[in-house]
Order: sequence, then C-alpha cells, then structure tokens
Amino acid sequence: MTRRYQPGDHLAIGRIFHEAVHQLASNDYTPDQLLAWSNGDIDFGSWQQRCGRKRPFVKELDGRAVGFMELDPDGHIDCTYVDPAYARRGVMSEIMAAVKREARAKGIAKLFAEVSITARPFFARHGFRHVRDNEVHVRGETLTNFIMECHLEESGSPFRG
Ligand SMILES: CC(C)(COP(=O)(O)OP(=O)(O)OC[C@H]1O[C@@H](n2cnc3c(N)ncnc32)[C@H](O)[C@@H]1OP(=O)(O)O)[C@@H](O)C(=O)NCCC(=O)NCCS
Repeated sequence: MTRRYQPGDHLAIGRIFHEAVHQLASNDYTPDQLLAWSNGDIDFGSWQQRCGRKRPFVKELDGRAVGFMELDPDGHIDCTYVDPAYARRGVMSEIMAAVKREARAKGIAKLFAEVSITARPFFARHGFRHVRDNEVHVRGETLTNFIMECHLEESGSPFRG
C-alpha cells in the first residue's frame, strides 16, 4: 500500500535515508561523499518536522515503511529512498505511480528532480529525461547528480504509472 505520511513514520524514514545512501549508492560515490550525504547521526527531530511539512508518499509493507518520496507543490521531487532490504522489488515504482497520479490530479504538468547517479536508471525508466549535469556541495564534498524532468502528458495516459 502506498499512502501519505503518518506520524511515527519519521523513525523509519530517517533510518531508510541513511541506509539507502550507504548501501545502495556506495558504488557510485566515494566513502567521504557518502558520509557528507548522510553522516549516521540521524536527526529524528528534524525528520519529524520535515515529514510533517512535506507529507511524503510512503510504501508500507509488513506493517512498516520501506520507501518514501517527497513531492513539492511545484512538481519538484525531493527525497527518494528505499530500504535496501526491499530494493529492486518495485517499491519505488509503486510510489512513483502514486506520485504521478497525485500530480496529474493537481494539474502539475512537469515533474523534476536532482537525481543521483544511483537513481538515474530508475528515473529514466519512469520517463524522466536528462536535462543537465549538476553538482551539490555538502559538508566540504562535491557530489555529481543530474537534473531530470518528466512531462506528464508525454509519459502515459492518466491511468498508467
Ligand atoms: C533509486 C531507488 C529509490 C530505486 O528504488 P527501488 O524500489 O529499488 O526501484 P524499483 O525496484 O521500483 O526499480 C524499478 C526499475 O528502475 C531501474 N532501477 C532501479 N534501481 C536500479 C539500479 N540500482 N540500477 C539500474 N537500474 C535500476 C530498473 O529498471 C528497475 O526495474 P528492474 O528491477 O525490473 O530492472 C533506490 O535504489 C535508492 O534508494 N537508491 C539510493 C538512494 C538514492 O540515490 N536516492 C535518490 C536520490 S535522487
């Protein structure tokens, strides 16, 4: 089931963020870059505040959150992370379908994101095109990512993911 954030999800979400970075993105970024991205000191209070504000889409399996994606009102897709124990099982594809449905229902014509090297094939698979290379500067490290976008009218009928 994909649903919106519920109070308490932030505990799983904070953990998923850190584990996804260090286990799923570790072939694409250096150890120093991974530590700059997520240093392991998970600030659950700040995740609680962020989640209350952004109300991410959450996939729940076996009674717990296993992946989440944030959709901003302007079509910007922000955090997109899956629990490594559930990777490559279609979790994020199901969440993406829900996000696209919501975006269409709200009249958002274009989705866009700063996509990691790791996530690029996933976004490409879901109809996102590479716009340009990008750099993020965080805690003294520079991480490469890509601006990608998806025009919803081009990416399938309103009834498809
Ligand atoms: C990117 C990410 C969210 C994908 O989540 P997921 O639930 O594993 O994705 P899905 O199972 O729905 O994948 C759907 C398709 O996307 C593509 N895909 C997903 N992960 C991929 C990978 N690591 N390498 C190549 N293709 C990939 C494949 O086509 C896949 O279909 P397949 O498994 O039948 O081949 C997850 O790998 C992740 O959390 N990565 C680390 C954190 C990160 O970089 N987040 C993005 C920040 S922008």
